[in-house]
Amino acid sequence: MMNPTSRSHGGVRVAGLLSAACAALLFAACGQQQAPAASEGAAATPQATDGADAAPAASGEVNLYTTREPGLIQPLLDAFTDSTGIEVNTVFLKDGLMERLGAEGERSPADVLMTVDTGNLLDVVDAGHTQAVDSDVLEEAIPAHLRGGEGHWFTLSLRDRVLYADKDLELDGFAYEDLADPQWKGRVCIRSGQHPYNTSLFAAMIAHNGAEATEEWLRGVKDNLARKAAGGDRDVARDILAGICDIGIANAYYVGRMKNAEEGSEQRQWGDAIQVIRPVFAGAEDGGTHVNISGAAIAANAPNRENAVALLEYLVSDEAQSMYARANYEYPVKAGVELDPVVASFGEMKIDPLPLTEVARYRRQASELVDKVGFDN
Ligand SMILES: [Fe+2]
Repeated sequence: MMNPTSRSHGGVRVAGLLSAACAALLFAACGQQQAPAASEGAAATPQATDGADAAPAASGEVNLYTTREPGLIQPLLDAFTDSTGIEVNTVFLKDGLMERLGAEGERSPADVLMTVDTGNLLDVVDAGHTQAVDSDVLEEAIPAHLRGGEGHWFTLSLRDRVLYADKDLELDGFAYEDLADPQWKGRVCIRSGQHPYNTSLFAAMIAHNGAEATEEWLRGVKDNLARKAAGGDRDVARDILAGICDIGIANAYYVGRMKNAEEGSEQRQWGDAIQVIRPVFAGAEDGGTHVNISGAAIAANAPNRENAVALLEYLVSDEAQSMYARANYEYPVKAGVELDPVVASFGEMKIDPLPLTEVARYRRQASELVDKVGFDN
């Protein structure tokens, strides 16, 4: 069967060739064939509590569009199906989520939209592809500054942007502002200033300290660079090992991957060469560590709305949060969830309390400042 819900990228390519309406029909057909088997017993009964007496438009399934890697979230989706009996039809999209939703319009079979980066989520929300959700479970699990107004989007995990430092450096804490301190001249590594991970951080700097101070700071960081702002986050650790730089800014989850890589492997050596410090915004009265996110929203025309809410609520359960955090070394959005040992070794995280929607407002300005100071030149 030609299955647009295939769990491979190949399947997505096939589905991409179909018209939106056709894809929708296939989804419906698919759903009938993928209804949970009765033999699964009690577990086969959908447990979306408040959906029990709702019209069974297509009960027992939920359609997920996600840009996350299959290996990362499939175990979570399987666990959700095990505990609720609700089948998850997943479309893994490497990119093009907005285009696809735009093309499908009101007939989109999507129930849940899941992606990374606040900017990407806000783009989807601003384009009208989401709907409001009122859920006590989600509101209790997710702090208010990490979700959208009226429940239009929710953070599922945190991606803190941290300091990688040579493991032998003795540092007593670190502020993002310190990156521009002349003592670090020729000692800092970082990827392109235009990468969303950095524009998000720089936007938060604008929100805390203003555009003028941020421009000056960017010039200072640029002056301190040991090499061109380029490459990826892991290259910061690689270049610290190589002695090119002493410190740099990158996402914390890569350290989980590197420090857990096979003994003797390149990645493991990079990971073992560094220590992680979670910087804070010193200029802010109540500054914390900058985080970007992975998150999700309910699609505007979700045909399986109750199941979609059930999936989101499951994803903030202790069980799912722990699995999520361990699979990719991201930080759980829900407090009190067990951390991966490597992530735990970085210590408690004080999350920057600035609402992510406010940070996102300055992203364009941040990008313009990167150009203005010639950060990537
Ligand atoms: Fe990444």
